[in-house]
Amino acid sequence: MANILVIDDNLTNRETYADILEGEGHTVLSAGSGEEGLAKLTAAAMDAVLCDLKLPNLDGLATMELAHEKHGPLPWILITGHGNEETAVAAIKQGAFNYLTKPVDLSRLKATVESAVRMASANRENKALRRELGYEEALDRIVGTSAAIRAVKAIIRQVAKTDATVLIEGESGTGKELVADAVHALSNRSGRPYVKINTAAIPHDLLESELFGHERGAFTGAVQLKKGKFEIADTGTLFLDEIGEMPLDSQVKLLRVLQDGSFARVGGNVPIATDVRMVCATNRNLKSEVLASRFRMDLYFRLNVVSITVPPLRERREDITLLARAFLERLNRRHNQNKELADGLVQHLRRQDWPGNVRELENYIEKLYVLTPGKVITNDPPGAADERPTSPLGNYRPNVERLSANDSNAAPSADEAIRALIGLPVDEVEKRLILATLSHFMGNKSKAARQLQIGVKTLYRKLIEYGVQVPGEEETESPPGSAQRPAP
Ligand SMILES: Nc1ncnc2c1ncn2[C@@H]1O[C@H](COP(=O)(O)OP(=O)(O)OP(=O)(O)O)[C@@H](O)[C@H]1O
Ligand SMILES: [Mg+2]
Repeated sequence: MANILVIDDNLTNRETYADILEGEGHTVLSAGSGEEGLAKLTAAAMDAVLCDLKLPNLDGLATMELAHEKHGPLPWILITGHGNEETAVAAIKQGAFNYLTKPVDLSRLKATVESAVRMASANRENKALRRELGYEEALDRIVGTSAAIRAVKAIIRQVAKTDATVLIEGESGTGKELVADAVHALSNRSGRPYVKINTAAIPHDLLESELFGHERGAFTGAVQLKKGKFEIADTGTLFLDEIGEMPLDSQVKLLRVLQDGSFARVGGNVPIATDVRMVCATNRNLKSEVLASRFRMDLYFRLNVVSITVPPLRERREDITLLARAFLERLNRRHNQNKELADGLVQHLRRQDWPGNVRELENYIEKLYVLTPGKVITNDPPGAADERPTSPLGNYRPNVERLSANDSNAAPSADEAIRALIGLPVDEVEKRLILATLSHFMGNKSKAARQLQIGVKTLYRKLIEYGVQVPGEEETESPPGSAQRPAP
């Protein structure tokens, strides 16, 4: 039936309660002190606790409080001495399920335990139900019914429950983060911490202290002890985004942590055990990075236990309609309006290549939405003449494959985009290309630089030349070489 823990320092009492409850078909564990009771709660899942209020050392109330903190709300039945009703009422205020007074009436004992067990099982069912709803929610947030997206969801369902490391690959804006979120939400760790860290957004010098924390005085500026993401994520999930950007020396340290199951804070040498489920994402092809010696092969194998590849939007065009409608609905809710997408617009959207994938589509719909004064959103709202997908260059990407491919559906075509530039000085074209690429990558300078095949430093220099201040620059990124270096 149920698992009941009996805590009482009096052996005869323990045996009496155990006899009665076992007679009712329950399994009974006994403890002679609060401390022993807590240890038993840690070792096995209980449905209810019957606990004497007066215990040596840790009394019944303190034991209950500690147990609630550690194991959540279990129904506690406290047994008080005669004339101690006031304490009993106080105990209920502190979260006890009920109390019994000595000498304990055995039929009341049975009835009280019975209702405690019923409540515990109702709580459990609610929790399971809520978790199930949470699952569905996390998967529903990934909009799409293409075979590719269904396959992605199927893998998520399959692997979430395991503790296997998951590597998510896919172009920028394909929804890798949504996939990572769902892996955590569907896992047994869903009630535990979920910590995200974006490797590309953190200066290399500070990455290790972000991951592993640092001791006070570990380096100039380390004025106090700081816990790292591994420590904060303990018992939960750690999402390492843009893992492909991790410098090789940090890769070595990460590998060691995965192998040893422990780490030390920067500037410290005490090993801290870690129980973290790792989910990583990258928009690079990690295998090629390994071949190019930019990513350690041993770490690649460690991370790539399960791999999920999120395909680019142009390879699942059937999702475009659903996605566009989902974004429209969200905007309608947000603005409390009731706009619609013109059929022609939907057709148009389905013909685009969306090099920035779902993110680009989302931004584009939002732009049209805001620019459309009326109810029906078309591709040409007033003022949007030059507002083709996200950048002044439209879908144009300097990509030989694309130029030669049969791209008659893409608008504006590469040819058109190039023609629009005729008459501009080369410097101006370069400036437009750089700014457009940067805006395409939502201000992410390392990605923009990579796409442009120039160094990040060069990109910074050019931005300074153009007098461009990218929002959030001070908080998230700083020019290479400007970061504080941990003291050796
Ligand atoms: N299948 C989808 N359904 C609904 N929204 C999506 C989907 N895929 C992506 N999005 C939305 O697109 C945007 C980009 O998604 P996300 O941040 O997960 O992409 P990403 O692959 O991590 O990109 P990057 O590599 O640039 O970090 C987010 O606003 C996300 O909510
Ligand atoms: Mg991402």
